[in-house]
Amino acid sequence: MALLNFSQPALDDATLAAVTDTMKSGWIASGPRVLAFERALSGTFDGRPTRTLTSATGAMELALLACGVKPGDEVITSTQSFFSTMNMIVKVGARPVFVDCDLVTRAIDLDRVAAAITPRTKAIVPTHFPGALGDMDALYALARRHGLRVIEDAALVQGSTWKGQPIGSFGDIATFSFHPNKNMTTIEGGAIVVPDDATAKRIEVLRFHGIERLADDTRDVAVASGKYNMSDVSAAIGLAQLAQLPAFLAQRQRLAERYFDVFPAIDGAVLPPRGVPGQSWNMFCVLLPYEALGTTRQRFRAALREREIATGLSYEPSHLTTLGRSLGWREGQFPNAERIGRETVTIPLHCGMNEADVDRVCAAIADILG
Ligand SMILES: Cc1ncc(COP(=O)(O)O)c(C=O)c1O
Repeated sequence: MALLNFSQPALDDATLAAVTDTMKSGWIASGPRVLAFERALSGTFDGRPTRTLTSATGAMELALLACGVKPGDEVITSTQSFFSTMNMIVKVGARPVFVDCDLVTRAIDLDRVAAAITPRTKAIVPTHFPGALGDMDALYALARRHGLRVIEDAALVQGSTWKGQPIGSFGDIATFSFHPNKNMTTIEGGAIVVPDDATAKRIEVLRFHGIERLADDTRDVAVASGKYNMSDVSAAIGLAQLAQLPAFLAQRQRLAERYFDVFPAIDGAVLPPRGVPGQSWNMFCVLLPYEALGTTRQRFRAALREREIATGLSYEPSHLTTLGRSLGWREGQFPNAERIGRETVTIPLHCGMNEADVDRVCAAIADILG
């Protein structure tokens, strides 16, 4: 039996043809396809200025810089996120101020955010999860009351909507990932959606060495920066993938519904929220009470692997990493994120699957856990 990956990109002939065409076009670095991809992406965000980058991690770094976050500032973020969120806050010299999340939706806890605001707070960085968004109206109302910027880590939720509006099409700044395990891919890649052209211009400078063009057609650098520009090959893949995104999202939705229908009844299991309108399904994470079931997560995952079913872990809480602990954070501070970190397992969900694959995963889980 072939291994069922927990995540896998959907690369069809149109995507492969786009790569070949670009490779033969004579221009493979950032060029016309990047511009076309950015225009097409922007269209999905209600025409907001959108710029591509080599990753969502880079997008987060440049978003923080564009918001003026600097050494000594504090950025409030959920400890339940991928490590890149914490890392980029630390990389720009700021202090990540962690707060807990909801156990089921994993949305950042806004009461904790409010309690964590100090005169040094510059921005709030929530991470969105598949299945449900946090209360976006309350988040922005809180940020506006305190004059704070919001950078939404939307790496996992391209295609999710809030009250009918796509994530990225409103608010301050949103960052997206096109890593192969996301809703669509450019191999590596990411995008940043910003509220105005001036911020977009700032991102263009920061993503390419800090270079600014002068009136006499020479170049200047005022601020040192790195290199985060997407290639035309990746952008061509992105254009082909974006055309299929609605179909990808629909397929993921069907598979998630099937999981809800056939996932074995296990006392103490926590599944993602079902039936929240406008949600996308990048991954399907479940919390399981391993100890009560007489096993450990490691044994459970190994037993699935023996049955040719791969799983992932999303995510270990950032505050309990060596880096987080070195900044003074300790076990016991964020019970929901810590429980998620102990119990979560990501089961297969990608567009190469059908409902029979979901049934196979659920049967294997029922078999292993008795
Ligand atoms: C929530 C979240 N944010 C950011 C990232 C980083 O994305 P990238 O690999 O494009 O840098 C990831 C990647 O898994 C993620 O899951």
